[in-house]
Amino acid sequence: MFNLDLTFAILHHLAVFTLVGIIAAEFVLLRPGLSGQRLTQLAAIDRLYGIAAGLVIIIGIARVFWGGKGWEFYVGSNMFWGKMLAFLVVGLLSVPPTIAFSRWTSSLAADPAFAPPPAELARSRRFLHAEVLILVLIPIFAAAMARGY
Ligand code: HEM
Repeated sequence: MFNLDLTFAILHHLAVFTLVGIIAAEFVLLRPGLSGQRLTQLAAIDRLYGIAAGLVIIIGIARVFWGGKGWEFYVGSNMFWGKMLAFLVVGLLSVPPTIAFSRWTSSLAADPAFAPPPAELARSRRFLHAEVLILVLIPIFAAAMARGY
């Protein structure tokens, strides 16, 4: 029998795993020596990152309102707000790399031999590191909030 809560839970998990997979792929691509086709791939993956993050938000909000426990269960939970704050911080940390990737792909279009300056690449990598560190907190908050903490 159709179960809305279960459906949202499955979609939420799939979207979250996709998001984590995309961040891992960015980590692999964003290395010294990045250029050409790899750079184009990185920019394409980063666009998917935006789509996956959007899905996580939409499905997450749907779970808050139609997940079965009622939105009151979540708005009173510090763990829920901790999770929202952590997700917001991850989103903000992803902005500077996205801007850099788009600038690099423009440079690549003008000059096929273009490679990102090492200092800029290292800076984007630092942002990605920080994203991963904060992202680890989110499932911890999620598990606690689901159990009423
Ligand atoms: C706007 C963003 C998000 C919203 C509104 C949201 C909302 C929710 C809601 C309502 C639940 C159901 C909890 C329950 O069973 O009572 C949930 C579960 C969960 N969320 Fe999210 N979520 C968001 C983003 C994320 C992200 C980015 C991650 C991971 C990186 C994540 C990981 C999880 C996990 C692992 C669970 C299952 C917790 C458990 O049952 O133990 N969520 N989320």
